[in-house]
Amino acid sequence: MGYVRWLGHSSFEVQVSGKKILIDPWLTNPQSVAKPEDFADVDYVIVTHDHGDHLGEAVEVMRKSRAKFVGIYELATWVAEQGIGQDRVVGGNIGGPMKLDGIEVMLTPATHSASRGYPAGVLILSDEANIYHAGDTGLSAEMALLGELYRIDVGLIPIGGHFTMDPLQAAKAVEMLKPRTVIPMHYGTFPVLYGRPEDFKRLVEEKGLDTRVVILRPGEKLEF
Ligand code: NI
Ligand code: MN
Repeated sequence: MGYVRWLGHSSFEVQVSGKKILIDPWLTNPQSVAKPEDFADVDYVIVTHDHGDHLGEAVEVMRKSRAKFVGIYELATWVAEQGIGQDRVVGGNIGGPMKLDGIEVMLTPATHSASRGYPAGVLILSDEANIYHAGDTGLSAEMALLGELYRIDVGLIPIGGHFTMDPLQAAKAVEMLKPRTVIPMHYGTFPVLYGRPEDFKRLVEEKGLDTRVVILRPGEKLEF
């Protein structure tokens, strides 16, 4: 049985096809319910870009586990250099599906910024479910391509505004991505993130799509 568990902000623990994955492990976020030492058994740590609210405690989790790090090439190289070692990182690039043990991971375009490499979202493909984490991004027409080519079971979409899409734009992204279930993220953490999940839910529902909106509380899981 797989699940997606929200750890606050853009941080998620995912279990799919028997693999445990941490995405954007900023575990010291104000809403966090978890610590780096909780993830000694994690298989993959995936980071969308190197802003502090996404890279978070990734290196610490890597030190306390036997996980492999997956991210954009330049960021993966930097993580390797933090005493982790090249054999524990998988560097990729936008749009290139990477065949890993039991799952496939693709970094997707994100309209944003980063210091190392390039910002990304991530699409996890597996026998059990396909999960899309948009990272930090503005609204982009490229999302329609993902929605056409892949069946997205669970979409994790930023809605806070200011640095990313707000609820109006995020609802448009859902129209293009066509996920079966969508979970809002990247809201409520800082005062500047004004987007509210209730507004996002209403705007998606007004479109009459075949998508269920699930608002999680930090620590809460969606099972599939
Ligand atoms: Ni960012
Ligand atoms: Mn961010």
